[in-house]
Amino acid sequence: MSLMFSSPVVTPTIGSFTFSSRRSNYIVMSAVRSNSASTCPVLTKFQKDCATPTPYLRNVANAIADDMRAGLAVEGGGDLDMILTYVDALPSGNEEGLFYALDLGGTNFRVRSVQLGGKKKRVVATESEQISIPQKLMIGTSEELFGFIAAKLASFVAKEKPSRFRLEEGRKREIGFTFSFPVKQTSIDSGTLIKWTKGFKVSGMEGKNVVACLNKAMEAHGLDMRVSALVNDGVGTLAGARYSEEDVMIGVILGTGTNACYVEQKHAIPKLQSKSSSGTTIINTEWGGFSKVLPKTIFDQEMDAKSPNPGEHLYEKMISGMYLGEIVRRVLLQMCETSDLFGQFVPVKLSTPFELRTEHLCEMQADTTDDLQTVGSVLYNILEVEANLQERRRVVEVCDTVVKRGGRLAGAGIVAILEKIEKETKRMGSGKRTVVAMDGALYEKYPQYREYMQDALVELLGDKLSHIAIKHTKDVSGLGAALLAATNSIY
Ligand code: BGC
Repeated sequence: MSLMFSSPVVTPTIGSFTFSSRRSNYIVMSAVRSNSASTCPVLTKFQKDCATPTPYLRNVANAIADDMRAGLAVEGGGDLDMILTYVDALPSGNEEGLFYALDLGGTNFRVRSVQLGGKKKRVVATESEQISIPQKLMIGTSEELFGFIAAKLASFVAKEKPSRFRLEEGRKREIGFTFSFPVKQTSIDSGTLIKWTKGFKVSGMEGKNVVACLNKAMEAHGLDMRVSALVNDGVGTLAGARYSEEDVMIGVILGTGTNACYVEQKHAIPKLQSKSSSGTTIINTEWGGFSKVLPKTIFDQEMDAKSPNPGEHLYEKMISGMYLGEIVRRVLLQMCETSDLFGQFVPVKLSTPFELRTEHLCEMQADTTDDLQTVGSVLYNILEVEANLQERRRVVEVCDTVVKRGGRLAGAGIVAILEKIEKETKRMGSGKRTVVAMDGALYEKYPQYREYMQDALVELLGDKLSHIAIKHTKDVSGLGAALLAATNSIY
């Protein structure tokens, strides 16, 4: 869930550029070209292909809702896995004791301890540590990945201050393990990995019980801890947000990857083979897997084909932080190759996959200077090109097209879930509020993305939006996982 927005680019102003010979060459070429290139066919076509007018968005929302129903009916019934999470009870506020959260799902993993003090004292103490995962571990073996995690967990626990955290005698330390990949849960504390997403490709793990992998590594590190709850980050967000607000019904992640989890009525889940069909349970939609009626362009198709999971998670590849920068890069590259941009040379960096990241788009879209200085600096620092004003404007247009499509499609997904909840519960009809808990760096740090998402909600929901609150609940998934460990404690 950790989209890297953290290391801002060094952005010298355009005025501080040295006029290298490369720049002079470039200027001559672009001057030659600029007479002949007043239009930009690649961009025009791209904008047309990415368009998501309201009726189109409505189709997307309906198609997501159809796939939700299909996935609830039978396993594999639709694009959305609609995973049963075995979380029937969300936190009540009464949880007490010391619990841990381990969060693996992106380029960082986090470990947290939480001392819970029940209804009155709530969170008495909490401490956390974030550790970045070396790239090679994301594509290595499960022993390497989980060995690394267990080692960091062991050193975190070793540093624990007994004055702040107290484990009751006779108890093992219990963990809520947030594992933010599609997992087929077999119980609240076990589940097998369906597939990797977000650039992870650890060998031999698909089909394996992820808790068993963690247990093995913890044992090897002499850690006597037990996983009491295995949860997705969407579930963790929903649970963490519910701790402070009882109207929270949906947890949405818009970060490196994307997902949504929500409270469903058991009677609306035909595939749930339990005797009791009353009450509610949390469904992990894995909506990133949605693939129908999406405005796919040639750039999306090419990016997908080159990804470690071709043909999968196509919605995620259109709306989440890992991919937006890469789509823009691909469009710019083609504009460059057809001489709509950057003169007649193709910058090497522009040919490098994932060189342009979503955080760079965000920086460029935040530029309010008349001559788009920040855009110029980002292009110079990241892609090593010197762009004239018309080129900078075009680059911003490409960013905006990709971000607009992403934000609006994400909005359509949220509408699909809100309408499903409404269908089953008639909450809004009876005047009740529904809160959507949002988390993830893309949502948090990209204002234009948020605005486009909001536009989609307004267009599709109209007046009904007055019953809905979209809330940014930053980093609550760790707390949520610890709370679920408490709810599912064996003691
Ligand atoms: C995974 C989800 C996860 C989401 C956000 C997706 O790639 O499939 O399980 O919740 O990323 O982290």
